[in-house]
Amino acid sequence: MAVKQPLFIGGEWKEANEYDELRSPYSSEVITEIPKATSEETEAAIQAAENAQEEMQQLSAHERSNILIKLSTLLQENREKAAELIAKEAAKPIATARGEVDRTIQTYVFASQEANQLYGETLPMDAAPGGERRLGYTVLEPLGTIGAITPFNFPMNLVAHKVGPAIATGNTIVLKPASQTPLSSFFLAELLQEAGLPDGAINVITGSGRTVGNQIVTDERVNMITFTGSPEVGKEIRSKAGLKKTVLELGSNSALIVDEDVDLDNIISRCVQGAFTFQGQVCISLQRIYVHESIYDTFLEKFVEETKTLTAGDPLEETTNVSALISESDVERALSWVQEAENEGAKVVTGASKQGNIVMPTVITNVAPHLKVSCNEVFAPIVTIDPVSSVDEAIDKVNDSRFGLQAGIYTGDIQKAMKASDQLEVGGVMINDIPTFRVDHMPYGGVKESGTGREGIRYSVKEMTEMKFVMVNNN
Ligand code: SIN
Repeated sequence: MAVKQPLFIGGEWKEANEYDELRSPYSSEVITEIPKATSEETEAAIQAAENAQEEMQQLSAHERSNILIKLSTLLQENREKAAELIAKEAAKPIATARGEVDRTIQTYVFASQEANQLYGETLPMDAAPGGERRLGYTVLEPLGTIGAITPFNFPMNLVAHKVGPAIATGNTIVLKPASQTPLSSFFLAELLQEAGLPDGAINVITGSGRTVGNQIVTDERVNMITFTGSPEVGKEIRSKAGLKKTVLELGSNSALIVDEDVDLDNIISRCVQGAFTFQGQVCISLQRIYVHESIYDTFLEKFVEETKTLTAGDPLEETTNVSALISESDVERALSWVQEAENEGAKVVTGASKQGNIVMPTVITNVAPHLKVSCNEVFAPIVTIDPVSSVDEAIDKVNDSRFGLQAGIYTGDIQKAMKASDQLEVGGVMINDIPTFRVDHMPYGGVKESGTGREGIRYSVKEMTEMKFVMVNNN
């Protein structure tokens, strides 16, 4: 019988009343049993977070910073174990999983630095008549309790983007990880306890979004919701969260423009990586590529040739580049979208087949913008590649989207690059790189249906604090 994973509430591991099986997306074997928290257990987690607020707020900046440094050291010591957890629960190829652990370590280091940098500012009060001989300054105060709802695709690093800044700013946390990949979060709780985080400052509960998620979003004691996931759920959260702050990171159908003057041999493997890393299950995965018509045929040929070198298989094998999608229903959904495209005149150049739950890397051309593989977030190893006659036309095509997270442009022409950076309707423009570029201290977030607010530790710190203004009258 599979081991049962307990809940983590108020610094204690608690058996739950109900459990669900957690299966490997690759082999379908049962990995463990995951608690399905009830309303009472969710209530206990929220109360524990509220009870821990005072102790958390009394920690000094250097104490919060040291907890985060200790956490990053523990994660470094457990790097291989952490990577294997991710590989098993998410079917993330092991080399990519190690990359995620390394980024997570950095994210916590950035958070530890931010804990010591919570500056306010002083105001020139005498700029207004009546402000003479008054001192005015701002301080940044924690909000209280942060509700963090995280996705399956980066079970450690996207959790770190919520937990790291929350601890840095002296907040407490109720964390609901994705039900497909909860083990990384329970492991994090173990490490945070060892790092000396006060009991109750982090609580990890799993269960259905409808019950647990809803309760976290609507409870008055939770002061902010930070969510990464689908636009549908994001909109629902926004409508239920009342006056709570919400930061929503909601995905995209990210695009790349390739101009006529680019040396293709320098960019092809990077583009293939952007389209197929972690099976395309990345919010900034490269989904649409618009290539200048003069180099289109060569680009397509080289791209397909490189795609065919990728190895599909077991996520725990060192040589695997592409493994299973997170669920069988995602395999069916993705392939049905490809079929729809084919029915409407698109051409599949490679892929569009499956091996178990693995969708083979798929390249499609001649794709009309209204087709699901183009206008929806595909979250699978599927990329569309189409010709354009100019960068201007490509910009229009990139912007013809309900999403706007990140976009990329390869060009040797600075004027075109600057025009693209001006006109692309996205949260981040990558000049001479793919939209999939991210390091963990840069601002990250979108416009349109890609969300609201920004992550990237310093930016999350702003979201997770309230500015208080203080005035001292020296008259
Ligand atoms: C995401 O999928 O939103 C995160 C991408 C990343 O951190 O690289």
